[in-house]
Amino acid sequence: MGQNPYLDTEVIPPPKKAYKLHLRNTGEIFEVDPDALPEHHDGQKGSILSILVENGVDIDHACGGVVACSTCHIYVQDGFDTAPEPIEEEEDQLEFAPAVNDTSRLACQCVPDGSADVTVEIPAWNRNKVSEEH
Ligand code: FES
Repeated sequence: MGQNPYLDTEVIPPPKKAYKLHLRNTGEIFEVDPDALPEHHDGQKGSILSILVENGVDIDHACGGVVACSTCHIYVQDGFDTAPEPIEEEEDQLEFAPAVNDTSRLACQCVPDGSADVTVEIPAWNRNKVSEEH
């Protein structure tokens, strides 16, 4: 887990209810259990990034979840309002992400509360990017 000494990584409450996280790219549906959230979590506890990584989804997250990049950009197409509003650092980083729209969030900072199911899509340029770039 990445650490940013200036950021409280436990500031966003984790989900309180179970919900389903639907990944539109692959059609997969992940059950999110508030009592069994990933122990190792990049970004906020219970973040969408942590759920995706735990389930083997290859989503880039270059800074390790400390709001110092925009590579974990996702579109939250359903259930957008179930996560608290982005903090200022997230909004600042999103300005650097390509193809931002009204549903854009940084997956490491987006923590749904479980009050509804959530559908996300990872932008094509953000998947399987690995480190071939030099
Ligand atoms: Fe860098 Fe989310 S992984 S901001």
